[in-house]
Amino acid sequence: MGMDADKIQKNFDDQALQYDETILKLIPKYAEQNQFLLELIPFPTDKELKVLDLGCGTGVLSYLILQKFPESTLHAFDLSENMIDKSKELLINFEGRVSFQQGDCTQDLMGEDYDLIITSLALHHLTDPEREGVYQEIFDCLAPGGFFVNRDVLIGETEELTRLYQKKWREFVSANGEDDAYWFKRHLEYDQPSSLLQQLNWLRAAGFCDVDCFWKYYGYAIFGGTKGDCHLPDDNQS
Ligand SMILES: C[S@@+](CC[C@H](N)C(=O)[O-])C[C@H]1O[C@@H](n2cnc3c(N)ncnc32)[C@H](O)[C@@H]1O
Repeated sequence: MGMDADKIQKNFDDQALQYDETILKLIPKYAEQNQFLLELIPFPTDKELKVLDLGCGTGVLSYLILQKFPESTLHAFDLSENMIDKSKELLINFEGRVSFQQGDCTQDLMGEDYDLIITSLALHHLTDPEREGVYQEIFDCLAPGGFFVNRDVLIGETEELTRLYQKKWREFVSANGEDDAYWFKRHLEYDQPSSLLQQLNWLRAAGFCDVDCFWKYYGYAIFGGTKGDCHLPDDNQS
């Protein structure tokens, strides 16, 4: 397991039951981001996609993908046993199309030949070297033409920007009736985000092409890339 994996695992085991309610109050535009993530997936809805949801949590994104892509199969992977249990409940109607694995993405094999790997709000729990290593692992787990997308929290490219993102985040949390001082303390204790440019560079170094940030709002971003042989939609063919 990674350096703090036991602590992170316990944190999410404890949070699993109330996660779906709390996350809406903690992540600005969470539902809007989910819809954007879904629209971003550059494959026709009737394609037999093989999907990995890395850090699936309660299975919210897995659910949306399995619903939108009826021929897809999905591997739901997470460090927390309780999160896996919650995702099993949510994904019960997709039996036969979904598999589950409790594991640590810095240590365990996650499968191979995926067309799509999605990870959301998970990798900021890793250290920088772990995150860089996991990007390489993700690249290796994708099939040629595969697409990777990550939605995560960031630090800014400067300390001033980090402070701005933190201020805006605390305002959002507080406006939702949550104790922003409490959540900020937890953020500092449990999260180790890196900057967007740093991560785009790691993705390019891992071999990804078409690397870009597709959506951004202060310290939240949706970014990723393709594994060669690009499948991004071509306007001239539509
Ligand atoms: C904030 S939740 C996000 C859940 C879901 N993807 C979402 O967008 O709502 C982060 C998840 O990442 C998982 N996670 C954290 N570190 C991990 C690791 N090293 N390997 C696998 N999963 C991890 C946690 O257990 C937790 O369920």
